[in-house]
Amino acid sequence: MATNIQKPRGTMDILPDKVAAWQYIEKTAREISAKYGFGEIRFPTFENIDLFQRGVGDTTDVVQKEMYALESKGNGEARYALRPEGTACIVRSIIENGKCSDAMPLKLCYIINCFRYEKPQAGRFREFFQYGVEMFGADTALADANVIALAHEVIETLGIKGVNLHINSIGCPECRPKYHAALKEYFYGHREELCDTCRERLEKNPLRILDCKSPICTKIADGAPKTVDHLCEGCAAHMETLTKALDSLQIPYVVDPRVVRGLDYYTKTVFEFIAPITGAAQSTICGGGRYDGLVKELGGPALSGIGFAAGINRLIDAMEKSGVIIENTEKPLLYVASMGNEAALKAFEIITRFRSEGKWAESDIVGRSLKAQMKYADKIGARYTLILGDNELAAGEAQLKNMETGEQTTVSIDTFTIA
Ligand code: HAM
Repeated sequence: MATNIQKPRGTMDILPDKVAAWQYIEKTAREISAKYGFGEIRFPTFENIDLFQRGVGDTTDVVQKEMYALESKGNGEARYALRPEGTACIVRSIIENGKCSDAMPLKLCYIINCFRYEKPQAGRFREFFQYGVEMFGADTALADANVIALAHEVIETLGIKGVNLHINSIGCPECRPKYHAALKEYFYGHREELCDTCRERLEKNPLRILDCKSPICTKIADGAPKTVDHLCEGCAAHMETLTKALDSLQIPYVVDPRVVRGLDYYTKTVFEFIAPITGAAQSTICGGGRYDGLVKELGGPALSGIGFAAGINRLIDAMEKSGVIIENTEKPLLYVASMGNEAALKAFEIITRFRSEGKWAESDIVGRSLKAQMKYADKIGARYTLILGDNELAAGEAQLKNMETGEQTTVSIDTFTIA
């Protein structure tokens, strides 16, 4: 006997009984994004591998350890990679499509699948789904507040409870060198205890040690110097304006120096929404920040950027933990049962008329007996049934049964309708 083929590790099937929650999140996200002026963008699932090496950063876990590189046909070299995230792809797209000279700010939103070769666990997948937004050409703290307010509204609308917003500033090219020097000095004191990857990072990019997942590095990172103590005047003022804006919008937050994010492009504001998903280590439902150098780094003009992405499966887990269960409760309005070929064709005609009115209707297409058809109608929860046989065809009338009340009415086969 042939063996069953199973889905790859860390991927998910979303079956029809679960899909309602996904559709609800996608609809909510699109509607709220539209209110804030974000138009949807779609882009390739795979991109040139250099885009992520340069954009996301070649010292990040995402690029160093988690990227799905694709060999191109012919030369066997890894030229492409499955997208591990959307931000770098969108920056590539706006540069390539000449959107950097559009009226600013340019506001885009997306719902995509992403791929990261991570160790699968609750809330962490190798193929996962993100809803995200990116805003270009607005470098004020008020722009940050707009984007955070949008994420906050989506999370609130979905009914997720107990979420904490953590914000931080990781500085800019002006204050970053001094901070890097302080980090290097600190981590040099622990050089021998760090994992091999972090020892390498110590030279190239000490900030990345702060989000290493190894328990020893995490413990050492706890005592590291904090970005907030090394901000230049401009970054400190930006952070202060942002906190004032969040206060006036009544969006609660904590300033958390441990939030440094795992991707290299960030400058100034970074933030994470953390939900108490009990039993799951992966409780960050949404993360984002400002990336004022990325467009230029990828060959475009000096254009600021800020955005976020939320993991859709983590939003669903958090909704479930908050008691919000979205189920597909739709049932067919009508099932037309029939006896004989002629009646089966008439049944098909009737349900086609209902479908053209936008109503869900079904009839037999597997050749069941009348008894089996009625059993099936019950199983799928049809709200009304109609039985067609030779007598009904001859009379042009049949009995329409309300399955909930049992009430029957005589209706004209060709013209009856159900409100
Ligand atoms: P990120 O923090 O890498 O940021 O991912 C954003 C969100 O995607 C996370 O908070 C989490 O909810 C979800 N996520 C990440 N990895 C996984 C995984 N393996 N399984 C399930 N969910 C996951 C970014 O991707 C940035 N592009 C966000 C951004 C947009 N920053 C600025 N603009």
